[in-house]
Amino acid sequence: MKIGILSSGGDCPGINATIRGVGKTAIVNYGMEVFGIYGGFSGLLNREIQQLDESSLSGILNLGGTVLGTSREKKFKKMLSSPNAAETQTILEGYKELGLDCLVCIGGNGTQKTAYKLSALGINIIGIPKTIDNDVWGTDITFGFDTAVNIATEAIDRIHSTAGSHRRVMVVEVMGHHAGWIALHAGMAGGADVILLPELPINLDRVYERIHERFQKGKPYSIVVVGEGVKTENKENPGSFFTKSIEKATGIETRQTVLGYIQRGGSPSPYDRILSSRLGGYATELINYGKFGRMVCVKGNEISSISLEKVAGKLKLVEPDNELVCLGHKMGISFGD
Ligand code: F6P
Repeated sequence: MKIGILSSGGDCPGINATIRGVGKTAIVNYGMEVFGIYGGFSGLLNREIQQLDESSLSGILNLGGTVLGTSREKKFKKMLSSPNAAETQTILEGYKELGLDCLVCIGGNGTQKTAYKLSALGINIIGIPKTIDNDVWGTDITFGFDTAVNIATEAIDRIHSTAGSHRRVMVVEVMGHHAGWIALHAGMAGGADVILLPELPINLDRVYERIHERFQKGKPYSIVVVGEGVKTENKENPGSFFTKSIEKATGIETRQTVLGYIQRGGSPSPYDRILSSRLGGYATELINYGKFGRMVCVKGNEISSISLEKVAGKLKLVEPDNELVCLGHKMGISFGD
């Protein structure tokens, strides 16, 4: 069999480990031919394709980013809504010309939706969920999330000591797009006092009160972790909005740190390396058994798969009754309510 593999959307730690997991299982165990498609879906359009052998898959397990390159697939989402568009036909022709039996698409929500559309046009597709945001519907966890939470937690740990020394409020803005998974997990792991998520309503006065109460109880500093997707007045970045408004309302010196892209750059954690390898290996098993139109996923401790049709167009967000949110409430952490 001949398979193509591409990565699409924002990069994240573990893509290379996934490519390796798919490719090595395919070549070593099943004798398949594996082709790397460069720059995401545009690689199929521009025919940026190269065969991968065992040696090109060596030494990449611990590398950040993606050796195949990536691109945002917004234009493909639009384009694929019109199956007769010239570009759609070019993609279909590219797949046929190469004689591919399957296309493996590593990506987040947008990619899985595009993958579903391509599968509806007759291409054999397997999706593999990737994103630091952990917001892909249909899987308990995405690879990249653990690494991002480790990085954000280490940053919050470091911010604690400077916050204490200066008796300041420190606002830490983390990534996550519309979802608060990184804020919730890094906030809980880093011992934040206030955790603000895009999914939960925020009462600003309650946030100020909580910070004020802490100072009155003799706790000389507070750590506020805020997800980048939290909506603010005038669409200001939540980090700078909360920094200014907390200082104004409480009179306590407040500083902000925006963690940004360091959360998704660099080497994947051991957990993500294993998860990526498992998801990649499982994708190849599905290909071998001819089970297409599916996304590999994690359910509990098991790797399994779900139809792309079910996943397409959905987001996995933090629910108000999330176990960690409930625990945090019981421990006195403020979620802005
Ligand atoms: O989806 C991953 C992510 O890093 C989000 O957390 C963030 O909002 C977005 O990508 C940033 O996207 P870009 O790479 O287009 O700046």
